[in-house]
Amino acid sequence: MNTLNETYTLSNGVSIPKLGLGTWFIENEVAADAVRAAVGFGYRNIDTAQAYGNERGVGEGVKSSVVPREEIFVSTKLAAEIKDYDQALAAIDGSLRKLGLDYIDLMLIHSPQPWDDFRGGDYADGNRQAWRALEDAYQAGKLRSIGVSNFLRPDLENILSEARVSPQVNQLLVHAGNTPSELLSYCGDKGILVEAYSPIAHGALFKNASVQALAKKYGVSVPQLCIRYTLQLGTVSLPKTGNPEHMRTNAEVNFEISTPDMDLLRGLRDVDYGKHSSFPVYRGN
Ligand SMILES: NC(=O)c1ccc[n+]([C@@H]2O[C@H](COP(=O)([O-])OP(=O)(O)OC[C@H]3O[C@@H](n4cnc5c(N)ncnc54)[C@H](OP(=O)(O)O)[C@@H]3O)[C@@H](O)[C@H]2O)c1
Repeated sequence: MNTLNETYTLSNGVSIPKLGLGTWFIENEVAADAVRAAVGFGYRNIDTAQAYGNERGVGEGVKSSVVPREEIFVSTKLAAEIKDYDQALAAIDGSLRKLGLDYIDLMLIHSPQPWDDFRGGDYADGNRQAWRALEDAYQAGKLRSIGVSNFLRPDLENILSEARVSPQVNQLLVHAGNTPSELLSYCGDKGILVEAYSPIAHGALFKNASVQALAKKYGVSVPQLCIRYTLQLGTVSLPKTGNPEHMRTNAEVNFEISTPDMDLLRGLRDVDYGKHSSFPVYRGN
């Protein structure tokens, strides 16, 4: 079976393709071409964010692609800095406008803290306000599903304490060398589907000797092994590429990693993100 046709079902019954296209660092001007190319290869799940500055291009690509808009699962994220109900509601409408769509398939709170205070202060009240805005937009039919990103267990407990609608998704840093097993099983217990972002560790796994050796053993590329690893964990995988040839090969992941090799990849430690370590999400706290 073609992996691009495989789906999970969210807790509200909405179907989500297992493999998507990440668009961080795809410029607005070229995002439409990238999305059209991906959809042409069969991708039906596109991940963007207010912070990426490319919602307009992504939306244009979705609307001008070879399939009807309803066949594409479009996700975006509320800016991490917005921790206020009214601002969140306005920003959701802003995303709808920029994307040029009548509805968004999934909208996430990008982070429990603003980026300049990642894993820092107490934003519990602000996150509940942002969540309330997502719930209201969900109930108004603007969003087909809602969730969070980078939320740890206490951040989720805070949302769940007052939620009318439980988060359907938590998008997390998950890749060989960073597998938050306890959090994955907590999300599983709560019916929250995890999406794996940076499945190739933002490129860092190309240089990892263990990953290279395993890729060789299976006769696949490093990205194919990394993407397959996250799919076998039961997560949605969101590799980013702007390169059509990479889009094509990244979707050829119809092979099976053995249980011992899954354990090996789960046990990898200390991935070096190199010059990208300065991004809050890779700082390791
Ligand atoms: N929620 C969050 O806080 C958060 C944070 C980070 C990322 N994300 C999401 O997750 C997506 C993916 O994460 P990411 O962008 O950090 O990194 P990634 O997918 O782990 O890695 C992307 C890098 O791998 C390269 N690549 C991909 N396929 C390749 C192939 N077949 N051959 C050679 N190089 C290949 C890409 O370059 P080319 O473009 O040249 O192929 C790019 O340099 C993002 O785009 C975004 O949608 C979310």
